[in-house]
Amino acid sequence: MRIVVLTGAGISAESGVPTFRDSGGLWEGHDVEDVATPEGYERDPDTVLRFYDARRRAAASVTPNAAHRALARLEGAIGEDLLVVTQNVDDLHERAGSHSLVHMHGELRRALCTTCGARPEWDADLIDRPHCPACGERTLRPDVVWFGEMPYDLDRIEQAVVGCELFVSVGTSGAVYPAAGYVALAAAFGARTVELNLEPSDAAVPFDEVRAGRATEVVPAWVEEVLVA
Ligand code: OAD
Repeated sequence: MRIVVLTGAGISAESGVPTFRDSGGLWEGHDVEDVATPEGYERDPDTVLRFYDARRRAAASVTPNAAHRALARLEGAIGEDLLVVTQNVDDLHERAGSHSLVHMHGELRRALCTTCGARPEWDADLIDRPHCPACGERTLRPDVVWFGEMPYDLDRIEQAVVGCELFVSVGTSGAVYPAAGYVALAAAFGARTVELNLEPSDAAVPFDEVRAGRATEVVPAWVEEVLVA
């Protein structure tokens, strides 16, 4: 069975990474326009670089949880019939052992050179304007997709969504497109759709099945069911 799992901030919440839209969320204290748009970066690059430097450091100090590990276990069993599409910029899926994985909103552990387009792996701060390893210019920004920018790997994702038999959404509010539209696309092409979330989201198209609960509980339980089926 081909399965696509779309994940959002909720899967990393129990690892200690704050979500965006829950109270105490990541945007609190920051205007989204200031730290997650190209215009905000143009206006005040230092604030934006510091914001993502802090997030990169915070992400390095947390560890994958049982939900990330369960998805890696599922990949171990069915291989590339599983594609995890994450909106998250942390690296908890890969640290749990996932390889069949797309970071559609970019990665904290990469930089993007606005001069040459290189996307080098990057673990250090960007605030000091380090040189791009490819072209030498000091024009590295976080490789995070901001509002108004094009997410990564959309062709690959859409192909997988259209071709899957089971589409599962984990820990995402369904507020940001195009990710929020994948459940409708999957359903239109005949997939069964399941939502695993703390609470039912306001999805534009209802899921066939909704299981409410914490990701560390509902995701491993669902994976066990798939593995014994
Ligand atoms: P949100 O913060 O919008 O939604 C998180 C979802 O996770 C909510 O529906 C919560 O109910 C749920 N949740 C919270 N804790 C949970 C837990 N322990 N177990 C299961 N579910 C839990 O985050 P996203 O949907 O990921 O984009 O946000 C989508 C995009 O909006 C992000 O990728 C980011 C942001 O703008 C960019 O930065 C481009």
